[in-house]
Amino acid sequence: MILIDGKATSEQIKKEIAQEVLLRKEKGLKIPHLAAIIIGNDGASMTYVNSKVKSCMQVGFNSTLIELPENTTEEQLLHEINILNLDKDIDGFIVQLPLPHHIDEQKIIMAIDPLKDVDGFHPVNVGKMTLELPTLLPATPYGIMELLERYQISTSGKNIVVIGRSHIVGRPMSILLSQKRKTGDATVILTHSRTQNLIDYTQKADIIIAALGKAEFLTGEMVKQGVVIIDVGITRIEDNSKKQGYRLAGDVHFESVSKKASYITPVPGGVGPMTIAMLLKNTLNTCLMK
Ligand code: GUN
Repeated sequence: MILIDGKATSEQIKKEIAQEVLLRKEKGLKIPHLAAIIIGNDGASMTYVNSKVKSCMQVGFNSTLIELPENTTEEQLLHEINILNLDKDIDGFIVQLPLPHHIDEQKIIMAIDPLKDVDGFHPVNVGKMTLELPTLLPATPYGIMELLERYQISTSGKNIVVIGRSHIVGRPMSILLSQKRKTGDATVILTHSRTQNLIDYTQKADIIIAALGKAEFLTGEMVKQGVVIIDVGITRIEDNSKKQGYRLAGDVHFESVSKKASYITPVPGGVGPMTIAMLLKNTLNTCLMK
């Protein structure tokens, strides 16, 4: 069994990005600038956003963090987005999800300038991705593609089962892996909460992308020997033996599945750090496109 080290791979990608930033500095070109808007003080969201800002510093990007209170109105958020859309120094920005219930998520995503949408969530970018046109890819699926490529895990002709149809991970992942591209050409089955007899699909899968958000859902008996496992889940589980009072669990029951897997991503240290690295890559790409 080979552990897919997302932490080390993401560090390598960040090193590559930092080198590009240095070259840009030497040539007097613009330094990439990423902004993030976060609303409220959800612990997990704040952890993610702070890691994004920290990673910007690591690669030499400029970064701006906009923290807004939980009771921010939709109009106020749209106003902030408009300011970032118009700010020539900002190359890309994200609005951290999930948003409070009183704000329409889709309306917010639609308000972001597609050229600055480094999350790749805007319908224009989703459409371009679907049609295989050059665009900003959503960071988590982009990171998974990069892991498969760098670990030389072939997807061509393979049976891939994606569990979970979210707009952020499952759906785009299923589209990308089925496309005629380097890490693609797979036969993809997109499964979800209404799928009947899920085990019939997972037991036949060469590669499984687990992105349903249920801790330790995929167990050893559900997979075949030699399967490749990509675990996107990250859930906090109460654990009083830990200093923070919780531990992090993926969507995969690591102990039983790792016994059968040929490759597997750990949680933490698998897909998570790759998402941040690819967000930085997208931000650099927006700069290169200018
Ligand atoms: N919440 C969970 N994942 C993501 C992500 O990739 N981007 C944003 N903006 N919010 C998220």
